[in-house]
Amino acid sequence: MSRNEERSPVTTQATRITADGWLPDFLLQSGGLAQPWFRAGFCTAPALLVHDMTAAFEATGEAPAGSAAFRVFVERGQRHDLARRVARVPRRDGEDLAGWLERCLGFSEFCVTFNSIASWNERLARRICGEFLLPIAEAHGAPACGADLYAFIGNYGDTPFGVHSDPDHSILWHLGPEDKEVYLWPEERYVELTGGTEPSFDVAPLLPHGERHRLRAGDLIYIPAGCFHVAQTSGFSMSLGVTLFPAFNKELLRRGLELLLREHPEVDLGNLRRGEDPAPLMRALASSVGADGAALSWDLGAAAERHLQQLASNGYLAPPPRSRDGVSPLPDGALRAPGAFRLGHARLPGGRIEIFVRGQSLRLAGHPALPALLDALNSERGLSAAEVVDRLSDRWSAEAAMHLLRLLFELRGLEPAGAVDAAAA
Ligand SMILES: [Fe+2]
Repeated sequence: MSRNEERSPVTTQATRITADGWLPDFLLQSGGLAQPWFRAGFCTAPALLVHDMTAAFEATGEAPAGSAAFRVFVERGQRHDLARRVARVPRRDGEDLAGWLERCLGFSEFCVTFNSIASWNERLARRICGEFLLPIAEAHGAPACGADLYAFIGNYGDTPFGVHSDPDHSILWHLGPEDKEVYLWPEERYVELTGGTEPSFDVAPLLPHGERHRLRAGDLIYIPAGCFHVAQTSGFSMSLGVTLFPAFNKELLRRGLELLLREHPEVDLGNLRRGEDPAPLMRALASSVGADGAALSWDLGAAAERHLQQLASNGYLAPPPRSRDGVSPLPDGALRAPGAFRLGHARLPGGRIEIFVRGQSLRLAGHPALPALLDALNSERGLSAAEVVDRLSDRWSAEAAMHLLRLLFELRGLEPAGAVDAAAA
């Protein structure tokens, strides 16, 4: 637990941060995530997110320099040297994020981005997964390559990337204190105006032709993939960005293949000679991942499904959280999976099992009681360590059962049952 989390003012798991009834409007008015969408007052408690984000920055200060994915832009250029200074001096009591970053960087005008920020703060991960990603996944379908959260902070004028589009869907939760202006152009309009799809850094002539939104603290804007955009910030402000990664075939195939290869590593295909009939090689290649040629696409599809289960175990956030340290003892009493992050599993060949926990996977010797045991850990009541040992005792030693429990806890797949504040666990 960081010092910042200890002095958390008003954070409980029960505190909602989104206005009621946003989801049907979002899905309808965006045409199923195809069009931009703006909602004033979407976030009812921006101060809580700012608090969580500040805690995430502080948490990076306790890790080796370079561990966190910061980018820093000053004087219209990216500065890799300054990225290593972010959060490297302790934050003073009561100091806000703006003042602290200014002191770390030695510049009064800057832009700092922080990718995968949710890996550094459990409260932030839970709020966004529980109130935003999971409802979207249930009503519309999950982002098949997952989502990431990032912070965008500063008083930097135009977005450092100019007017541009992204291959992924972008969502900005604006948190203030100052307003931000966002301009949007559909791709056809942008091509008409600029003659192509390259980013534009000469922004001013394009602005009169864009759709303008003024974002105040708490407002949200959804920018679909391919929609050109730029943001302008004159005073200091913070935004929490959510990137939804679409189901690109190259990503799903790559991730499916990675999972498939775990079961069939390093099969020697023999000598390969140029000019020979390729059919034997193709057959050998296909059978090396446990399939004949016809079955390979089916096996890959099944592996991609395992990848989706792995994502779902982390509330559809692609980056896993930082692990707990391996020295603190398991808490007494019952343990359970945190609400937004349910443990999953898949059966593997040879009677083995794969357990999905917070976006990672553990492959183990199977035990017939494991599926029901995972269900029990996913329930509100959870299970005590003694109950876990007992349920597995016919085939596993107490040490083996405790080792599994400890791994699940360290990967943040378990917390004390009854914990109200996730990050305090
Ligand atoms: Fe962008």
